[in-house]
Amino acid sequence: MGRARIALFAGRAHPDLAAAVASELGTELGKCLVENFPDDELQVEIQEEVENRDAFILQPTSPPSAGRLLELMLMADACKRAGALRVTALVPYFGYARQDRRTRPGEPVGARLVAELMETRIDRIAAVDLHTPAIEGFFRAPTENLSAIPLLAEALRHDVSRSSVLVAPDLGAVKIARHHAELLDLPVAHVHKSRLSGSEVRVRGVAGSVEGRSPILVDDMISTGATLASAMKALLDKGCVPEFTIAATHGLLVGDAARRLADFPVTRILLTDSLPPPQFGTLPVRIVGLKGLLAEAIRKLSSGAAQPRPVAF
Ligand code: R5P
Repeated sequence: MGRARIALFAGRAHPDLAAAVASELGTELGKCLVENFPDDELQVEIQEEVENRDAFILQPTSPPSAGRLLELMLMADACKRAGALRVTALVPYFGYARQDRRTRPGEPVGARLVAELMETRIDRIAAVDLHTPAIEGFFRAPTENLSAIPLLAEALRHDVSRSSVLVAPDLGAVKIARHHAELLDLPVAHVHKSRLSGSEVRVRGVAGSVEGRSPILVDDMISTGATLASAMKALLDKGCVPEFTIAATHGLLVGDAARRLADFPVTRILLTDSLPPPQFGTLPVRIVGLKGLLAEAIRKLSSGAAQPRPVAF
């Protein structure tokens, strides 16, 4: 079987990024209708010929995550029923990723459930900087965990100096900091954090040398900003230079996250466009585009022969 023609569709979560990726590929977005019925149910209609085509749907499952996920699933179902050879979900931000394990009895493993749900209609998944690589193991379908770290590190390169130090604001971010460190040749420090609730954390200590150094805080995501705010306070207490750079792949910035971060001397924040730009107020945010990374992923994923995978409806 030869190479199948691709059809790229955008859900409603991030049509601007989907359009940028289509333009990078020299193609146009496939026509589809995604609306809400008067009773709020989702209405989806693929208005493009997809029979025997390799379908891609770009949809970060960013807030409102449950609705975006269902939208993606309905689009995938519609593509399958219309005869697409294969459906690949491009999920630059994978919602529910932080529910990768149970921290208390009575909790679900949300990330696993979402992965299993996706697999009922989706043949392959490409995500960007999954909260933990362990999530790849939740999928039986081929999964690409693309990394935006090289792009962020490149954007940071001009601003680093000999006194810079990469700081992981929690243990989970140490691998991210090490990856940046390899690319930028900088030392690494990390903060010991305990999470008290969805929006509260406590710092237990800082490991590594930060006194007199300019911190570059790196993480996979900024949600409420509590992690970074606590880390910045701890770093100031340890005598760092009061000038923070922040780099994170996913900028959710929910609630009053922007105000929380603006209480600190933050000179630059680098985020990608894995999800639509958040409300960042007066924060000095610079967006690093993912269109090239995602377009390249589509090129690679579509280069093999597309084999239909039967789905039991
Ligand atoms: C946690 O493990 C993540 O890597 C982030 O540090 C965290 O999710 C950020 O959340 P928030 O901004 O609400 O502290």
